Amino acid sequence: MKFFIDTANLAQIKEANELGILDGVTTNPSLMAKEGIKGEEAVRNHYKTICELVNGDISAEVISTDFNGIVEEGKSLAAIHPNIVVKVPMIKDGVKALKWFTDNGIKTNCTLVFSAGQAILAAKAGATYVSPFVGRIDDGNWDGMELVGQIAQIYSLQGFKTQILAASIRSSLHIVRAAELGADVCTCPLEPILGLLKHPLTDIGLAKFLEDAKKMKQ
Ligand code: G3P
Repeated sequence: MKFFIDTANLAQIKEANELGILDGVTTNPSLMAKEGIKGEEAVRNHYKTICELVNGDISAEVISTDFNGIVEEGKSLAAIHPNIVVKVPMIKDGVKALKWFTDNGIKTNCTLVFSAGQAILAAKAGATYVSPFVGRIDDGNWDGMELVGQIAQIYSLQGFKTQILAASIRSSLHIVRAAELGADVCTCPLEPILGLLKHPLTDIGLAKFLEDAKKMKQ
């Protein structure tokens, strides 16, 4: 399973990248706004900076909602760097645009996916990635991971090539569950990634080893 970081924060992207386990980055308009990035030029520069930091797929989301607008915006985003993946919402014109990008060799991430039916449409349109929003489904008292498992089963049965990108990840356990269920990618904030490191027995065991190591010194 590939690890993407779900943020537009450069310090967090650098920290995850320095761990050596980062395969890419996902962003969305909310995450970009959170970093105070304003204006088209600043947005494009920020994507370029992320692409130069991380050698992997970098999702950049369109904000147009009509076919022509999505295609024009996506082409412009894709021109920033070869690693840009155009993130397209799961709406009717979005599906049409996904197919256009597929036919024109531009990688895509179909976002805001909340059902297996939507995931089937994304795959039929040839999306590179499909993003089921696990945490937001959990927020509504449904099990978001059930959707990841359902999509994995359908894609495997039908031979769809679209990669499942578990998104809206809120905890380290989400990451483990995504791996168990066969997600191809998990995109997470930095905290759940670092949370994977934690186990009290590791800390206790290391403290004991270090204490005993002192006994070996002359
Ligand atoms: O990748 C999608 C993600 O950014 C949404 O996460 O926590 O806003 O539901 P969240």
